[in-house]
Amino acid sequence: MTAVDAPRAADDVAAVPIFEGRDLVVDYHSRGQVHRALNRVSLSIAEGEAVGLIGESGSGKTTLARTLLGLIRPVHGQVTFRGQDVYALKSVPRYRMLGRDASLVFQDPRSSLNPRLTVGAVVRDPLTVQRIGTRAQRAARVAELLESVGLPAQLMSRPVRALSGGQLQRVALARALAVEPGIIVADEPTSALDVSVQAQILNLIQQVRATRRLALLVVSHDIRVIRYLTDRTAVMYKGEIVELGPTAEVHDHPQHEYTQTLLTSVPSLSRWPA
Ligand SMILES: Nc1ncnc2c1ncn2[C@@H]1O[C@H](COP(=O)(O)OP(=O)(O)O)[C@@H](O)[C@H]1O
Ligand SMILES: [Mg+2]
Repeated sequence: MTAVDAPRAADDVAAVPIFEGRDLVVDYHSRGQVHRALNRVSLSIAEGEAVGLIGESGSGKTTLARTLLGLIRPVHGQVTFRGQDVYALKSVPRYRMLGRDASLVFQDPRSSLNPRLTVGAVVRDPLTVQRIGTRAQRAARVAELLESVGLPAQLMSRPVRALSGGQLQRVALARALAVEPGIIVADEPTSALDVSVQAQILNLIQQVRATRRLALLVVSHDIRVIRYLTDRTAVMYKGEIVELGPTAEVHDHPQHEYTQTLLTSVPSLSRWPA
């Protein structure tokens, strides 16, 4: 057992990261070719911390997020969640453990949420799957969750397809919060939304984080989203993290040539989000 794996004293529990990925390698196989999507990537996320993953399309951001979440088994390296080796577990206990404590918000709520379900069913689903509360408690909780993301509780009887994109992303956030997770992983959470709505959703994510101890992993190709939401930024390029540091530092004094290129293509941040 290495020092990192050793059990810790009770007063040191906060020092255990929520997620820790060490030396991760992920390969995709298609048409007889092997594509290395992650090449020895390490990233840890502390409790309550907001970490951003930035990089161009195809750089491996989604792959890293999904590997941390127990959805893609790496060919090399290790993921721990609150100290537990994620891939040492079989899939059912793995999903059960992570589903109770780590939630995912997708880019496009229109395609990630079933349009035929009611809003209430969508938000309630994680509670049912994790067997949290009685029926009555779940119903009350759904109303509370909708209100916490700025939606009227009456919306719970409406079908998903009747809502706007911005409303749907609020529903996705309410669903993500249902299990009271320690972390939300948001993969391009505003990319599919109108610009005016993007700012509202980013504000909402900030507001939600301010009221509970919630870590955040935000994946985005947009440095403005990362700058607005995160404490620490990892810059990905061709399957590797080429730069990692405090968000303001990475933004103001980028060290890697690729980060510098990424930043020069962005308009002024001073008035964003409006
Ligand atoms: N299921 C898959 N099968 C084969 N290749 C994939 C698969 N998913 C992603 N890739 C490839 O892996 C690389 C990283 O993809 P991804 O993690 O989605 O990047 P990003 O989220 O940064 O855009 C890309 O080259 C992509 O084409
Ligand atoms: Mg992606």
